[in-house]
Amino acid sequence: MSNSAYEMLNVPSPVNGVQQIQLHRPEALNALTTAMLNELSLALDDAEANEMVKVVVLTGSSRAFAAGADVKEMASRDMVGILNDPRQQSWQRITHFSKPLIAAINGYCLGGGCELAMHADILIAGTDAKFGQPEINLGIMPGAGGTQRLVRAVGKSLAMQMVLTGQPIDANQAKSAGLISEITQPELTLTRAMDVASLIAEKSTLAVRLAKEAVLKGMDTDLATGLRFERHAFTVLSGTKDRDEGIAAFLEKRKPTFTGQ
Ligand code: CAA
Repeated sequence: MSNSAYEMLNVPSPVNGVQQIQLHRPEALNALTTAMLNELSLALDDAEANEMVKVVVLTGSSRAFAAGADVKEMASRDMVGILNDPRQQSWQRITHFSKPLIAAINGYCLGGGCELAMHADILIAGTDAKFGQPEINLGIMPGAGGTQRLVRAVGKSLAMQMVLTGQPIDANQAKSAGLISEITQPELTLTRAMDVASLIAEKSTLAVRLAKEAVLKGMDTDLATGLRFERHAFTVLSGTKDRDEGIAAFLEKRKPTFTGQ
């Protein structure tokens, strides 16, 4: 059953702890309007609040994950409009989503679409995926993390090449550069992302949440600070019932049943 509260998203009921969110503006290759990003942030609010949801898989269509910010909408914004852009709140919402977010990507993943994908914790893409930051062709530059997240993901030289030429890279290049974790046949991308999500959904939600936070912290801080955060998080988890259950299940040679306590 799809949640009809959204006009530009398909949001079916969660299955086994996994919430799928599909971007759905086929007439514009899922170009991201302010309203669509707002819907996405509302869907993530729902997913955050829903205890049944352990992991979110974000996907697009077979032709495009998302072809960027909606250029037609962007054209109507002047400098003050961009300064007061309400989209910033949506980007913040996506950035601070505490549950694992997996992007299942086929086709065009460009501009704001690539920036959206880079908000995900795990990126899985079809062989047909194309990643790029073509903003330079419009006389602008990436404005939703496309310079900062891209350089952290693929390193300076490739990030510069993509941002300064606007030329996209294919899935193989994206995989060898570390932008994505896996390549699949295009028709299997969503299935594979759902499988990875299901594996994560079976784990302790507390451990998953702190592990995600620790990895993200590691991308943003110096080693000593990151290691300190990891140690604190590891210590916190030693006080959970899930940790007792995980260790007991291992010793008793059975599958653990985590309760998130
Ligand atoms: N914004 C608005 N509409 C878009 C769009 C976008 N980013 N990308 C595609 N569309 C629309 C097209 O205008 C077209 O609509 P019409 O039929 O009404 O003309 C429809 O989607 C299909 O697109 P094409 O006919 O162009 O399809 P194609 O297969 O020939 O080309 C493409 C596909 C190479 C992705 C091409 O559409 C393209 O170059 N799109 C723009 C990509 C881009 O520049 N993205 C960056 C935007 S800026 C940004 O993202 C900044 C930011 O976040 C801060």
